Amino acid sequence: MTAFPFTISATDGAARTGAIETPRGAIRTPAFMPVGTAGTVKALYMDQVKDAGADIILGNTYHLMLRPGAERVHKLGGLHRFSGWPGPMLTDSGGFQVWSLASLRKMSEDGVQFSSHIDGSRHMLTPERSIEIQADLLGADISMQLDECTPFPCEKDEARASMELSLRWGKRSKAAFGERDGQNLFGIVQGSVYDDLRRESAERLIETGFDGYAVGGLAVGEGFETMCSVLDAVVPHLPGDRPRYLMGVGKPIDLVEAVARGIDMFDCVMPTRSGRHGQAWSDYGPVNLKNARFAEDVQPLDESLDCPASRDYSRAYLHHLVRSGEYLAAMLLSWHNIAYYQSLMARMRAAIAAGRFAEFRREFGARWESGEF
Ligand code: GUN
Repeated sequence: MTAFPFTISATDGAARTGAIETPRGAIRTPAFMPVGTAGTVKALYMDQVKDAGADIILGNTYHLMLRPGAERVHKLGGLHRFSGWPGPMLTDSGGFQVWSLASLRKMSEDGVQFSSHIDGSRHMLTPERSIEIQADLLGADISMQLDECTPFPCEKDEARASMELSLRWGKRSKAAFGERDGQNLFGIVQGSVYDDLRRESAERLIETGFDGYAVGGLAVGEGFETMCSVLDAVVPHLPGDRPRYLMGVGKPIDLVEAVARGIDMFDCVMPTRSGRHGQAWSDYGPVNLKNARFAEDVQPLDESLDCPASRDYSRAYLHHLVRSGEYLAAMLLSWHNIAYYQSLMARMRAAIAAGRFAEFRREFGARWESGEF
């Protein structure tokens, strides 16, 4: 298998910084991937996403297979051309979205059958169909194996059965993917909150052999401390020379603590979703622009960011837009949040490169704890 070259240029403790070189450009790591579920990072132009500093975005098999249909995207030139994002793109395999969005799910060894949340139509997703959609039809640069995101809480025997199903689906995903030039496939570690299951999942995925390894099944209600302890248990068992991706995480403090444990990639709907709900992210936590304290605040959101949404509008104006339910509120706050997340990743990369990540982590933690925006 021809993994994209992954060069680690500096390490600091378990944290690492470097770049994944793909035919569509480099992904600087640690990287945050804005979520472009339906071929759009909601409320943003692709130019804004790029200018905010994102190297890679994420697309979703589940949404695109239902609408407009994977075959149609393929006919229209693939997801890069269709959406106007020329850079690297990773797609999630669909299992997680079926689990969180679809109804009438029927799991079997073969795959998962479900009803669309859009029109109730019946669909089937198998490991083979997921790879066909991601790699052949959408044209993802990085495809994810089909997995089952184990619900939380979960008894150990159920967690084992679910983890083993994901391992078998991982093997089938790999067989369907085969050997490809210029496209990669990542495996997904499951095992709920059980350290020994997580470790076994990692070891058996490595036997199958993937280009990168994701940690799934987290941020599902287990809480921050448990998530950190699962990462402590699993990351040391993942190959050091392959990208490690923590799926669906998270808040800024989660990203800092996961990078400290050796994670290289993240995705989360948080910055765009909360942007649509009047929330701006900062080193001090989430800021609710609806709050009356901003009604006459003439300061910009965050002057340190190289983003018009953060610099060129007063908090009072943003407050007014949110209160009035204006589209521009969602647009400006999503833009700010993506720029803030990208700046956080850039600051972490710089801190690791300079050998001062421990100091960065301490100072960030203190700001986060203070909550004093
Ligand atoms: N996104 C967040 N968590 C998960 C997971 O466990 N599996 C997949 N496929 N996607 C996710």
